[in-house]
Parts: sequence; structure tokens; C-alpha cells
Amino acid sequence: MNEASVPVAFDSMRRDDLPEVLAIESLSFSEPWTEEMFLYELSSEGISEVLVARADEGSGLRIAGFLCAWIVAGELQINNIAVHPGYRRRGVASQLLEEIIRRAKSMGAKAGYLEVRASNEAANALYQRYGFRQIGRRRNYYDHPREDAIIMGKKPL
Ligand SMILES: CC(C)(COP(=O)(O)OP(=O)(O)OC[C@H]1O[C@@H](n2cnc3c(N)ncnc32)[C@H](O)[C@@H]1OP(=O)(O)O)[C@@H](O)C(=O)NCCC(=O)NCCS
Repeated sequence: MNEASVPVAFDSMRRDDLPEVLAIESLSFSEPWTEEMFLYELSSEGISEVLVARADEGSGLRIAGFLCAWIVAGELQINNIAVHPGYRRRGVASQLLEEIIRRAKSMGAKAGYLEVRASNEAANALYQRYGFRQIGRRRNYYDHPREDAIIMGKKPL
């Protein structure tokens, strides 16, 4: 962690974290996940891992960011990651990625995969820093705006 990094504590997301998570989600994406999508992840026990990173605000803990992934069949699939705009560039996503990779490896995962908008420079830079490399491209995969998805993989994890 560099000096600007915010120390965070990891937790599995609970239902009562939903308002904070949904607020970060809608501040972060043009097509945010809905409440139902998060609830589905929470109900997919044994496959889905939803991590929240809590930062100490002095007055209490606040969710700085979250990450949704599946760990299944020896693979880590990262499905969503976002950090509150007020906490960006302070190492929160890096810590979330390190934590999920650590957990996935301890559960036997040997490879990691994800999709990212081609124009998302922040996320592309983040993933490359953690050893993910482009392994494919899906044309016009996203809407609003219409855009290609870059498929990235990391093997070994
Ligand atoms: C992408 C995102 C999760 C990064 O979160 P973060 O906590 O700010 O990331 P970190 O502070 O851990 O950054 C780690 C590294 O990633 C890269 N990075 C992060 N944000 C960047 C930016 N805006 N521009 C360029 N590189 C960036 C840098 O290499 C950075 O290291 P550095 O700060 O020492 O230069 C955050 O910008 C976000 O929530 N964006 C909106 C949601 C989103 O796009 N999610 C990804 C979907 S695939």
C-alpha cells in the first residue's frame, strides 16, 4: 500500500449493505446493476462472493467499494467492482482484487477472467497491474454507450 492508500476491512456483503452498495453502483456505471441483481448474487451461496471494503470514517465504518465474483470450477470470474468516487485512487480496488485473488487461490482457483469496456482506462490499467491480459474482444457487447468488451484473463492466477 502506498501512503495515500486507505486501510479497509473486508466483509461479505449483507442485505443491509444494499443501500450503500447501490449508491456506489449508480455513481459508477451508465447501466447500474439493480437491487434484484445484487440479491441474486447474495442468494448464490457457494458460488458467488460479494466483498465489501469498509473504511473507518472516525464516526463509523462506511463502504468504500465492493467486488462481486464467482469462484467456480477452478476459476475466478470477476463480475463487478466499483469504488465510491470519494475513495478512488487510494488503493481500495487494489485491495479488493488482492483479497479476492487470495480467497480464490485458497479455494483452488487456477485462473481468473473478467470483461471490461474498451474505453475504461482506469479499470484496464488496474487489471493489467494485477497481471490480467487481453485474451479476446466482444464487438458491441455493451449499450449506453454501445461499445466493445475486452475479455481479460490471468493464468496462473
Ligand atoms: C476502476 C476503479 C474500480 C478503480 O478503483 P480505485 O480504488 O480508484 O483503484 P486503485 O486506487 O486501487 O488503483 C490501482 C491502480 O489502477 C490504475 N488506475 C486506477 N484508476 C485510474 C485512473 N482513473 N486512470 C488511470 N489508471 C488508474 C492505476 O494504475 C492505479 O495505481 P496508481 O494510483 O498507483 O497509479 C474505479 O475507478 C471505479 O469504481 N470506476 C467505476 C466503476 C468501474 O469502472 N469498474 C470496473 C468495471 S470493469
